[in-house]
Amino acid sequence: MQICRTKQEIRALTRRWRAEGRSIGFAPTMGYLHEGHLALVRRARAENDAVVVSIFVNPTQFGPNEDFDSYPRDPERDLLLLRAEGADAVFLPDAAEMYAPHAQTFVEAERLSRILIGRLRPGHFRGVATVVTKLFNIVAPDAAYFGEKDYQQLTVIRRMVADLDVPVRIVGVPTVREPDGLAMSSRNVRLSPEDRAAAPVLCRALDAAEARAARGPVSVEALRRLIRETLEASPRGRDPRVDVRAADDLSPLRGALRRPAVALISMRFGDVLLIDQRVIRPA
Ligand code: PAJ
Repeated sequence: MQICRTKQEIRALTRRWRAEGRSIGFAPTMGYLHEGHLALVRRARAENDAVVVSIFVNPTQFGPNEDFDSYPRDPERDLLLLRAEGADAVFLPDAAEMYAPHAQTFVEAERLSRILIGRLRPGHFRGVATVVTKLFNIVAPDAAYFGEKDYQQLTVIRRMVADLDVPVRIVGVPTVREPDGLAMSSRNVRLSPEDRAAAPVLCRALDAAEARAARGPVSVEALRRLIRETLEASPRGRDPRVDVRAADDLSPLRGALRRPAVALISMRFGDVLLIDQRVIRPA
């Protein structure tokens, strides 16, 4: 497994692979890897001749009062895990390698980046779309793998790739969960034991909505209410947010559930913002 810390090194490597006719699968991450990340790597491994993973805690997607400094990091362990998964190369730049000091060009999916999580985290999706565009330009993969857990992020990336004619196939990978249903996240380690015990309420609320939709006709409003009531019954989480939107473009829905929808939820436990999602289809 090659470890590249500069753009020049990773570019030279992927250029050679392309010249040899090898297809390249790419999984961008911020490290502190868990089974959710590894599911992306495995899928990339199964579908491509060469696999590249990036590890970069991207400063431009964190707000001034967010957890950039306390974001967990363990590159040595990450490299061991990636070697075991058979990744061919890891791109591990530092911030100075990624961003020129006077950078002033950004990528933003305007409407998508301002709704939902974008309202809680202004500038977040602009930072994500910009760094992912840069990583695509550096690695030039055939396919790139993103988790459905970050559903709005996946939607932003699909929009950006379509709007800017980026020649990469975007693959969404289902959310990997802990045995009690909590979606795996690098941030879960920052939960107190009490909050960790309470956090699976997110998954339970989504289960309830999915089961309700499977039983027969239901309105979007009723689903939203059911999810909200389940979250509000939790003794610990604060500031629950619940939205049910069109699964393809996150446009608002009203009335009877007639097309695939996605329930997007978030709640704060201590200073940790947890998110989860579920695609819900009409019965
Ligand atoms: P990070 O949070 O490290 O996540 C990297 C990728 O792993 C994302 O595509 C995310 O959706 C996916 N992922 C995280 N938890 C998952 C889970 N439980 N199941 C399945 N997939 C999961 O998302 C980012 O980093 C950054 O915003 C990034 C895209 C790298 C840009 O900086």
